[in-house]
Amino acid sequence: MNPDPEQPQQTSNQKYFPQGFFEALGEEKIRELVKIFYSYLIQSSLRPMFPDDIQESEIKAADFMIQVMGGPKYYLEKRGPARMRARHLPFAIDEKARKEWMSCYRQALDDIEMSEENKNHIWNFLEEQSRWMVNR
Ligand code: HEM
Repeated sequence: MNPDPEQPQQTSNQKYFPQGFFEALGEEKIRELVKIFYSYLIQSSLRPMFPDDIQESEIKAADFMIQVMGGPKYYLEKRGPARMRARHLPFAIDEKARKEWMSCYRQALDDIEMSEENKNHIWNFLEEQSRWMVNR
């Protein structure tokens, strides 16, 4: 069964991340991953979709990732219910954009020091969630 990204109450995703996943990985590791991801994203053809100041995007994305992995609910506290599909509707995201976005995460996951098992959990989560964001 698919998780419903529009569910306002949904703050973490136990389908993808086992109990203790966040604690084992740590907040800094997740922030590092997101930072590497954006270093690739700004070199990609998706760059114009994002604000000039990519640091804000980095914080929002890391806050969200920390939350879904079972960490503190920074995103909910700062930005409210996730509603990720709705938040992406203003941006024209087709399959080509999704693939490019995923390839930035592929490179970031290849770069970062982390167990293959944990990388797979993150990859599988992104692979499925990213399909919900395709809106064109
Ligand atoms: C399918 C490819 C995707 C593209 C092209 C894309 C693109 C974007 C763009 C252009 C923004 C607005 C700029 C910004 O606020 O940083 C954004 C925001 C965001 N995206 Fe994505 N995104 C994709 C998939 C995802 C996925 C799979 C997730 C998480 C599971 C995600 C999480 C976020 C978050 C947390 C924000 C900030 C929303 C806010 O609070 O304003 N994105 N994305």
